[in-house]
Formats: sequence, C-alpha cells, structure tokens
Amino acid sequence: MLDTMTLTKGVAALCGALLIFLLGSWAGEELYHVGYDSHGYDDHHDQAYKIDTGEEDAGGEEVEETEDVAAILAAGDPAKGEKVFGKCKSCHKLEDGANGTGPYLYAVVDRAIGSVEDYNYSSAMASFGGDWTPENLYGFLEKPKSYMPGTSMAFAGLAKPTDRADLIAFLETVDD
Ligand code: HEC
Repeated sequence: MLDTMTLTKGVAALCGALLIFLLGSWAGEELYHVGYDSHGYDDHHDQAYKIDTGEEDAGGEEVEETEDVAAILAAGDPAKGEKVFGKCKSCHKLEDGANGTGPYLYAVVDRAIGSVEDYNYSSAMASFGGDWTPENLYGFLEKPKSYMPGTSMAFAGLAKPTDRADLIAFLETVDD
C-alpha cells in the first residue's frame, strides 16, 4: 500500500514537473517572439550593430579587411609556400620564359597581368589590367574563376588564407 502511494506521488510529481517545464518553454517562446517582433527585423539589428561599431562610415569594413590581408601576407612563410607550389607545378614552371599549360611564374609578383608575350591567354586575363600585386594574387588564388570570370586556369583555388600568403611569399623569392 505504502509503496504504491509513494510511487503514485512520485509519478504525479514527475508529471507536474514536466507540465511546468512544458508551460515554461511555451511561455518562453511566446515571450521571445513578442520581444523579437517588437524589435523589428534583422536589418534593424544590423543597423544597430553598425552604429555601435561606427562601421556605417563609408569603406569602414573594407579598411578592416585590407589590414587583415596585409597582416596575413606579412606572415607568409616562403618555405611552406614552396610546398604549396606543388599544387601549381603541373601547369606552371618557375624558370624565366618556360611556359607550360599556364604561363611561367618567374618573377610573377608585381608583373603586369597577362603580359607574357608568347603565351596565349584567355581574353579575360589578357584584358584584365593591373599588376599581380600580392593582394591581387591573394584574391585570384582563393577562387580564380570567381575573381576573374572567363579565365582558362582550371584550378579550384586555395581556400586557406595562410596557404595563399605562404605561396605568395615563396613566389616573391623567385626572381633571380
Ligand atoms: C590546371 C592547370 C593550372 C594549375 C593547376 C594552376 N594554374 Fe595558374 N594558370 C593556368 C592557366 C591555363 C593560366 C592562364 C589563364 C588565362 O589565360 O585565363 C594560368 C594563369 C596564372 C596566373 C597569371 C599569370 C600571368 O601571366 O598573368 C597566375 C599568377 C597563376 N596562374 C598562378 C597559379 C598558382 C600560384 C597556382 C597554384 C596554386 C596555379 N596557377 C595553378 C593553369 C593552371
């Protein structure tokens, strides 16, 4: 008898606790939705964020990104970059004038884009303009086909920023 009573009380207590828990989460969710609605939509939050950090100043975000890239590039390790270059070797040679599937990459850093005389570039690369600054290489090598739509360089890209920085540091040493 007593055992049954204890059991019954226990079950009742559990059910009560569960009910309170369910009611609690329901109420919590209701409150959350009410709070969310009264605060408006996502763009409102974005705006609040921007005002807080002063990022609504034109170009604020870009400046920050440029600084990051400069820091990542400055930390590039040529020894590691030589290994990363293994992914380019099937198409690119480092000797001056030695074109393969791709143009030779001797002294490519700061060379004019698409400027190897006897190499047959895609029109996308031939007409792109500018130089292969470390920053441009960094952007191009992340995803060549997004950076330069129409390029014939069939290479998916180097997703890791440090791989690109190491590789560029290595390419900078290939000019003598
Ligand atoms: C599957 C072959 C292939 C691989 C792999 C490859 N490339 Fe290329 N690369 C090309 C081709 C082809 C072009 C010329 C693209 C064009 O004309 O649009 C090119 C062009 C370039 C250029 C422009 C050079 C210039 O004269 O303007 C750079 C820089 C470059 N590649 C770097 C790299 C690096 C660094 C890697 C390794 C991470 C790499 N490529 C991997 C085929 C390749």
